[in-house]
This record gives sequence, structure tokens and C-alpha cells, in this order.
Amino acid sequence: MAEQTELLGPDELERAAALIRDGRLVVFPTETVYGLGADAGNREAVRLGFAAKQRPPDNPLIVHLGGLAGLSAVAEPVGALERALLQTFAPGPFTLVLPRAAGVVAEVSAGLATVAVRVPLHETARRLIALSGRPVAAPSANRSGEPSPTDFAAARAAMEGRVAAILDGGECRFGIESTVVRVDHEARRVVVLRPGSVTVEMIGTALLELAAGPAEHGAGVPDDDSRERAGWSEYGVSYSASQGNAPSGSEERTALSPGTRHAHYQPRAKVYTLPPNLREDCIPADVGRRVGAMVLAPTPSWPELDTRFVRVFGNSEEYGRFLYRSFAWFDSVGCDAIIAELPEAHGVGIAVRDRLIRAADGRRAPCR
Ligand code: TXA
Ligand code: MG
Repeated sequence: MAEQTELLGPDELERAAALIRDGRLVVFPTETVYGLGADAGNREAVRLGFAAKQRPPDNPLIVHLGGLAGLSAVAEPVGALERALLQTFAPGPFTLVLPRAAGVVAEVSAGLATVAVRVPLHETARRLIALSGRPVAAPSANRSGEPSPTDFAAARAAMEGRVAAILDGGECRFGIESTVVRVDHEARRVVVLRPGSVTVEMIGTALLELAAGPAEHGAGVPDDDSRERAGWSEYGVSYSASQGNAPSGSEERTALSPGTRHAHYQPRAKVYTLPPNLREDCIPADVGRRVGAMVLAPTPSWPELDTRFVRVFGNSEEYGRFLYRSFAWFDSVGCDAIIAELPEAHGVGIAVRDRLIRAADGRRAPCR
């Protein structure tokens, strides 16, 4: 049944915070994508959130904090390396899986003993969470399976009539969901469960820097802390790329991050991926009546494609920022197929590839 949704400006944070405290749902902006927020300690509110986006109950939610001060209420115990990673990447598009504490209801974690925690960078998000005084459980504010909203209009299109309020925070700076990681101490690695704008390379660099310790202690006598820290340089970063929705990348990743097994990020138009460095040899064959294309600069010369429906991105960051908005635009102009050139697999390119391959459900552009 449709609910009257309040549309709020960034100066109406008090109202939004009161709704969260009241156990209602509030869609709010973050630097990645818009989130569908509920009080993480309120079982009924969390259930409403699952219902509003028709999310499978076995797919856990991320708990958002206003800052690391509130960490112990939601996650415990937090190891030294885990804390150091959070101190490095929070606030930002980074989510860490930790043991779940009492302040978070089991439904948030879909019954798992762990909880995913993130401190958003977006000022409006952080102020909303701080004002509400609650940890805020928030999946992306899309309906299950669809692309995540990355601006106010898309958030309205997805959630108006299903939530108490939608808070306007403009366009999301990164445009793709946060990097989700967990630390596997036995295997001595940081496992990337979902790639994002905090890249595999950035995490690797952080491990080396954290192992070296703060500069002022460099010449001092090694203490217990510095010995533990030094061991962090042996930790690797691992990520295994997805092959589409089914079957998902690796058995292990699916078991540990249940969200990665569900269909995801799909616009109405059928998406077909085109591997990098293939464009000269491949003029995409007919895949639909009105075909959109997303490519990296420079623009390829594909005479068959209607140039009105081509989006060109300067680099992977820009590709990520405009990815879901481009999907929505192709749908709005009636494209029935989208050919998406995959970026190279490094940096943010890894995350963009992941979203595109899932959106395409493994389909590749046929070449003529
Ligand atoms: O950028 C983001 O992370 C956005 C904004 C709103 O913060 N949120 C988001 O949430 O993308 P959602 O629910 O769409 O994706 C959460 C991801 C899923 O892949 C889920 O499986 C994983 O995080 N996840 C959540 N809790 C987990 C846990 N306890 N263990 C492993 N993976 C978990
Ligand atoms: Mg999502």
C-alpha cells in the first residue's frame, strides 16, 4: 500500500532523524549511492526495510555509523588490524565485516554472527546518523535486483510511496557501492567481498604503511604493538572476480557475503559486455532495435550505432560515477540493449567490471 513520503531538504535533518528514532524508513544520500535507512537496533524497522525493497531475508545489511566512536556498540571484539583499517579508510566508501555486538538486531545480519560496518563520508549522512543517535542499517535504496539510485530523482523513482521520507543530498560522488572486506587472519589476507572505490591497490598500500607504523616510532625500541604491526606486511589482499550472477565468483565469497549471489544492478535494457581492447576488431552485432553504448574515451567508430545513445567516459572513476545514472537514462530513452565496454581490471576498473558483468548476467556483445 502506498505511503505518503515526505521529501526533505538537507536543512530538514532533525525531522529525518526523528523518523529514524521512531522506527520509520528514511532514504538518505551517501557518497556511494543512496541508502534506505532504519534503526539497526529496532527489529520492526529493519523488517520494514527488507519489505520496502523486496530484499531476500538472507542478504545482510550494512550498519552505518556517524563516526568510529560508536563502533563498540555494534561490533565486538575489533582486532588491532581491523581497527587500523577503519582508521585508514573511514569515513569513506569502505565497509568492514566484524563480529556482531548486542546493539544490532540479528535480522540486520540475516542471522550471521558478523556485521558489516561503514562510516559514510557524505556530510548529510553523517549528520543524520549523529542526530538520530542510532546505528543506521541501510541497504542501497533500489528495489532488489535493480541499479542503485545515485541522485535524488532516482531515489524518488525507486522508493517514493514505500518509505516515510527521502532526504535530498544531490548527486553521489562515487556512484558505485562501497568496498566490502573482511580480514582472514588464518590465511593472512584481507578478502575483498565486493570491490568498490577503495581499491585492492589502496588496501595493499595501507597494509604496508600500517606495518611500518607511525614515523615517529620508527627508530624506537620495538614494543608488543610494533611486533604485531610488523606482521601486517605479510597480509595479502585477495579478490576473485565475478562471472555474472549465477554461479557467482567463488563459492567462498558467496557463502561469506551472501549479497553477491543475488541478481543485481540490472536496468530494463539488456546489458552486453565488450572486453577491453576489442573494439577495433568488434563491431557489435545486432542486439536490439535501439542500442545504447557505454565506452571509455576515445569514442570508437561504430557506424551502425546511433551516436545519440553513446556515453563516453574519460576513466574508470567517471564510468563508476555515471554508471547507474546512464542505465536509467538509456531506459528512459527507450533503449532495449546496452553495450558496455569493460574497463581494464585495475583500480576502480575492478569494481566497474564487477557491476557490469552482474548487470549483463554474463552476456557478452556478439561481434560481427
Ligand atoms: O555503498 C554502500 O555500501 C551502500 C550505501 C547505502 O552505504 N550500501 C549498500 O548496501 O550497498 P547493500 O545492502 O546494497 O549491500 C551490502 C553488501 C551486500 O553484498 C551484503 O552481502 C554485504 O554487503 N554484507 C552485509 N553484511 C555482511 C556480513 N555480515 N558479512 C558479509 N557480507 C555482508
Ligand atoms: Mg544493493
